[in-house]
Amino acid sequence: MIQAPRGTFDILPDSAAQRKVVEEQVEKVLGAAGYRRIETPTFEATDLFARGVGEATDIVQKEMYTFDDGGGRSLTLRPEGTAPVCRAYVEHGMHKLAQPVKLWYLSTFFRAEAPQRGRYRQFWQVGAEAIGSAAPETDAELIVLLADLLQALQVKETRLRLSSLGTPETRAEYREELKRFLRKHEDELSEEVRSRIDLNPLRAFDADDARTRSVMSDAPILLDRLNEDDAEHFAQVRALLDDAGIRYELDPTLVRGLDYYTRTVWEFTSDALGAQSGVGGGGRYDGLMEILDGPPTPGVGWAAGIERMLLAASDLAAPADLVDLFVALAKPDGNRTAFELAREARRAGLQAQLELAGRSLKGQLKHADRIHARWVAIVGENGVVTLKDMESGDQHDAPVQNVIPTILRGGAKS
Ligand code: HAM
Repeated sequence: MIQAPRGTFDILPDSAAQRKVVEEQVEKVLGAAGYRRIETPTFEATDLFARGVGEATDIVQKEMYTFDDGGGRSLTLRPEGTAPVCRAYVEHGMHKLAQPVKLWYLSTFFRAEAPQRGRYRQFWQVGAEAIGSAAPETDAELIVLLADLLQALQVKETRLRLSSLGTPETRAEYREELKRFLRKHEDELSEEVRSRIDLNPLRAFDADDARTRSVMSDAPILLDRLNEDDAEHFAQVRALLDDAGIRYELDPTLVRGLDYYTRTVWEFTSDALGAQSGVGGGGRYDGLMEILDGPPTPGVGWAAGIERMLLAASDLAAPADLVDLFVALAKPDGNRTAFELAREARRAGLQAQLELAGRSLKGQLKHADRIHARWVAIVGENGVVTLKDMESGDQHDAPVQNVIPTILRGGAKS
């Protein structure tokens, strides 16, 4: 039997209804702040991600679905949305629009990761990007919008971690300082951390080993090394969040898996999730546009995983489908009046379903009840219809042309 590929899933109708609720909330929360939808292609030139996300990242090294398009061009299924949105910004000359350009997307993304609960190879993200503003208000506003969205979707037990990465230069200097520090304490570090001093010194902050942890409690932290402008920018973001009543933990070891970040970075986690606890995260990417050969343009944004938000909001209820009219057949053979009645009802704005399964009349009424139809029209010969009000149980005969006006008058489901 052929099954969906490992790490992918089908979205069945109940789940699609839930996701519609998510999309409506996204539109409401982001639309209210002037964000407008953008959708970019599912695949892009591989180089966009190699340069944008960063050659050295796990995403580019191990997780991309890359293929040759048959004409010698290397394409990649998008692993994330920020680089594509920046590409579109440059390609369409959006720097000529009023800045910042505020965009959102809700699309599928692809990463060849080991599948587990909350981690898939094809997954959905909602993302928001504000391109063309360096103001700390933009960072704070985006964080508030993500907090509002998580709250609107009743995502449980969320926590916000916040940090600033400063500039790439500050980061490079800091990295060297951290390496010097780690070398000085080499014999107190776990074997694993010691072997990765050059490759990934920041990993030392995540070590479980007790002695390593005690060394790291005195390690220099990047937040203390920010230049004056970056420190001031971060202080303003924090002040705005404080005023907005958004609680956060400062986490100077917060690392995001993408290389384009500068200054503010953040991540929302949910304790209601297991190992894959990151529901949504983002940050500022002031250098990305230039990496993509665009004009120097600051930007900031976030993305949140739809599946993780739904997992952490397990009681998100979708409204039930409404059926105004079920058109039943008195006799099972082809009945053009019934077919036409269902069509007319839909034209009049009603949700109308026609019997399609050759059920007995009793079976049809049972089915109408199961789908919570408000009215049933049993179409007999000569265009005579028995119209049954499923709420009161009353029924009467009527000419077919009276059915829709009666329903419209007597109460359709809404
Ligand atoms: P990211 O942290 O890599 O950021 O992904 C954002 C969210 O997507 C994660 O918090 C998680 O909820 C979800 N996610 C990531 N990978 C998977 C997966 N394999 N399965 C299920 N869900 C997943 C970005 O992608 C950046 N583009 C965010 C951003 C926008 N930064 C600035 N602007």
